[in-house]
Order: sequence, then structure tokens, then C-alpha cells
Amino acid sequence: MSTSELGQISGEQIAFFRENGYLAIGAITTPDEVAWLRDVYDRLFQRRAGRDQGDQFDLAGADEEGKEASLPQILQPSKYAPELAGTACRANAVAIARQLLGPDASYTGEHAILKPARHGAPTPWHQDEAYWDPGTEYAGLSVWIPLQDATIENGCMWFVPGSHNLDVLPHRSIGNDVRVHGLELDVADFDLGSAVACPIPAGGATFHLSTTLHYTGPNLTDQPRRAYIVTAGKPPKPRAAVRDFWWQKNKRTARMDRAASSGKLKIESEQ
Ligand code: NI
Repeated sequence: MSTSELGQISGEQIAFFRENGYLAIGAITTPDEVAWLRDVYDRLFQRRAGRDQGDQFDLAGADEEGKEASLPQILQPSKYAPELAGTACRANAVAIARQLLGPDASYTGEHAILKPARHGAPTPWHQDEAYWDPGTEYAGLSVWIPLQDATIENGCMWFVPGSHNLDVLPHRSIGNDVRVHGLELDVADFDLGSAVACPIPAGGATFHLSTTLHYTGPNLTDQPRRAYIVTAGKPPKPRAAVRDFWWQKNKRTARMDRAASSGKLKIESEQ
């Protein structure tokens, strides 16, 4: 298959996404590009790119200096590796996002989430929009691309089918610790019984909307689990009524302090 054919999906796949709020596909780029991406990705984490600017941090812990991160994340990795901007992978992610959302959808960002071998933490159940601006109306999705096979054992994606029809539900900082950047669903007895695991090969992709509930398990294997995520969306609009995302208001992360002391006025949003 040519690289541009990897940026096309079928009418059946589009219908599945509209009904369920997620979609898994077997390939969004070539094995050669996956191998190249893995190299770039590993170098970024090894040299702690973006750490001082608040763009690299521990998503699931308090992110203290000198303590190994259990779920390291880099926001906007192409700021630190500009060669990431020209990949087939990104072009195909945006091409498929246009088929799913409409022709006015465009690239909005990217990030990288690493689960280190043997101790990579789970990413608890959440909706990405819980991280975003409560006063903005979004039509956005995330394209999650593993750079090795993604399995239940190393932390593949799980989704609750149909949850994209929910409003943004209450969230809190992971473990209810405001020093932790990551969020988790804060709803007692939410029924996750219909959740579906999506193991996919290296260079495959899952797509999910900003309100689709999702989760990844811990990495129980001897190899790192690398995920590269591209986001795309239609132009955002102001909402008539601003929502109260109280879980955003009391955050106190080490990452925010690093961003402030590096003189960065606005830190990147992510999921
Ligand atoms: Ni997410």
C-alpha cells in the first residue's frame, strides 16, 4: 500500500466511529517510518527534551526532580525534533481526521506518552476534553499511534463505546493529588463493563473523540511502550455558557513552576 492510501478509511469505518466514538485501524504508516519514529522518540526522552520548559513531565506522579517518572510525557515533541512535522504518519492522521470530522478539520498538536518497561503506570479513565478550556466548543479527536505492537499487557487503548455522547463528566487529579498533572474520572460507580480493548500492531492507530472515555493499562512487559499522539479538530468556537471544570483550578504541578521560571507565558494544553 502507498503511504497516501494509508490515509484513507472506508464508509463502514466512518459509520463505526460515528456510532461508537472510537475506531482502530491496522496501519497509518509504513514499518520503515515506524522504525525511524522510534529512534527520534527514544532520543527525545533520553535527553529529557522540553523538561526545563515544562513540556516534559510525569503525567501520573508528582514529577519531583531526581525521581524516575512512571508515565513520562512530552508535549509538542516537534518543537524539539522539527523533523517530526513532515511525516506520512501525521499527514495520514490529519487526512483521516478530515474524513471523520469534516473537511475543515486540521492539525492541532501532538504529544508522546512513554510507559517504561515493567513500571509504566496506567493512564486512568478520562475524557481528553476535561483538560481543555471549559469556555470553548470543540470538535476534536486524538490519533494514538503505538511505535511497537500495543497489547493488553503493555498498555493498549481501551474505550467505552458510545461514551462520546456524554457531557464532560467530573474529573480530579490522579489519586486526588493536585501535584499530579494527569486527571481521572471522579464518578462513583461508573459502569465500565462495556469497555473494549484495542490491541493494534506497531504503526496502527486508534481514533477517539474528545469526550470518548478511554484508559490504558500498566506496562507489565520488559519493553517500553511508546505512543505518539496526533490531535486534529474543527475550528473551536466560544461556548454560550462556560462550564465549571473545578478540577483544573487547584492544580499545583512542578511542571507549571518550571514553565513559569523558564519565562514561558502559556503552557501547552494536552490530554
Ligand atoms: Ni487521553
